[in-house]
Amino acid sequence: MSEAERVIIFDTTLRDGEQAAGGTLNIQEKLDIARQLERLGVDVIEAGFPVTSPGDFDAVSLIAEEIRTPVICALARAHPKDIDGAWEAVKQAKHPRIHVFLSASDIHMLHQLKKSREEVLEMSRSMVARAKQYIDDIEFSPMDASRAEPGYIYQVLEAVIDAGATTVNIPDTVGYAIPTEFGDLIEGIFQNVPNIDRAVVSIHCHDDLGLAVANSLEAVKRGARQVECTINGIGERAGNASLEEIVMAIKTRGDLFDLTTNIRTAQIYKTSRLVSELTGFPVQPNKAIVGANAFSHESGIHQDGVIKMPITYEIIDPRTVGIPASSLVLGKTSGRHAFRERLAELGYSLSEQDFNRAFIAFKELADKKKKVADKDIESLIAEELRTVSEIYHLDRVQVSCGDRGIPTAAVRLVTSDGQVLADAALGTGPVDAVYKAINRLVKVPSVLTEFTVKSVTEGIDAIGEVLVRIESEGVTYTGRGADTDIIVASAKAYMNALNRLLVAKKTA
Ligand code: KIV
Ligand code: ZN
Repeated sequence: MSEAERVIIFDTTLRDGEQAAGGTLNIQEKLDIARQLERLGVDVIEAGFPVTSPGDFDAVSLIAEEIRTPVICALARAHPKDIDGAWEAVKQAKHPRIHVFLSASDIHMLHQLKKSREEVLEMSRSMVARAKQYIDDIEFSPMDASRAEPGYIYQVLEAVIDAGATTVNIPDTVGYAIPTEFGDLIEGIFQNVPNIDRAVVSIHCHDDLGLAVANSLEAVKRGARQVECTINGIGERAGNASLEEIVMAIKTRGDLFDLTTNIRTAQIYKTSRLVSELTGFPVQPNKAIVGANAFSHESGIHQDGVIKMPITYEIIDPRTVGIPASSLVLGKTSGRHAFRERLAELGYSLSEQDFNRAFIAFKELADKKKKVADKDIESLIAEELRTVSEIYHLDRVQVSCGDRGIPTAAVRLVTSDGQVLADAALGTGPVDAVYKAINRLVKVPSVLTEFTVKSVTEGIDAIGEVLVRIESEGVTYTGRGADTDIIVASAKAYMNALNRLLVAKKTA
């Protein structure tokens, strides 16, 4: 029997995913995600768009230096400055790639680029040739390809392959395509681009009509061998094709695809949680593969079937994607050994120092809460390992509220150089009072644009997780905090966002 062909998984969570409104990540967070993507087994990590900001440049360089197995790719417009910058950022990578893009639809050329087809063809060719002087691994994307004239796309692809592109990526930039139509475009490329055998055909689909995964799978059926996607499907507007859905569709329907990927599927759930936690984008409960309800059976008939034989209503064993099978709960009497084992089962491998911090936090939580579930542990680890340096540390917060008095809050902060600051404020509610008291101490103008609180598990003693977004000078900063007391969680989240803002301003 011949070996199944492999589909290259190109992850763009750190580039297109981060382009999602409000999804800013700091450098350390990007590195943490890149490390997890390497564990997941992606073939290519698009680490960023270096020319857009010094922060993006530094993140791409750091990832290029540290992550050794996947190809590290940097995005560049078809401009000399972008291409040179992309090369500078990825040149330390063991396997570097430059990804050049330029619009190819008449709509974009006429209204945005204000250039003719001939000019765009020449820019595409010459900028691929420029990138080729640096490295061999060059990808080219004719942007908005799904709305372009196919005959023109064939010409552009032939020219860039001749100039040295080794991957040609067909983007459905605005999520406009329908599966059969997109599949026909891919098939047309194989039939009409004479040198197509010298490049890998890739696809990059957006989800504006909810068809990103369907379009990607159809393209794979018609011969595309690289799929560009993101964890949890995050990305510009409605997002990109979701990595976990594509990989699991190819695996689960092996009877139709007869293809493989390098993805270690048992790492999927953990990667999804990490990306959600660090970007602040929650995963909707009914999200395929990684949503909280994706494997929970509510109806009696379904429960009966699954108990008798899981295959009756379950097409994927949840353990395949790393959802822990055990619902064992830890408690006050659980020791270091049990906690360490649980962490390992949940896929965490912490340094001794991080483990010790996490264990202390676990013990404190177990004192407040009788049963500590897996979701509590995940929340606690995320809280302990938050990676923003603190310019102001929340030391104490005290509120008085109720239906009679005026909500009042007192807060005490400690600065990074050890100064202790305290103040108090009144508010319309306890959170408002706490935030006003903090604002009196941290005098940095910002607007609170989002505040959400959710409980990690069921039960009134559950941990509350708070997410806030604040805006300052047009930039959004996300903050998160978790505690069994939601006012404390709210204060932690706000401080987390303010610290991000202050660190960003300091390093700008
Ligand atoms: O959606 C798009 O067209 C892109 C390109 C840069 C590939 O993200
Ligand atoms: Zn895109």
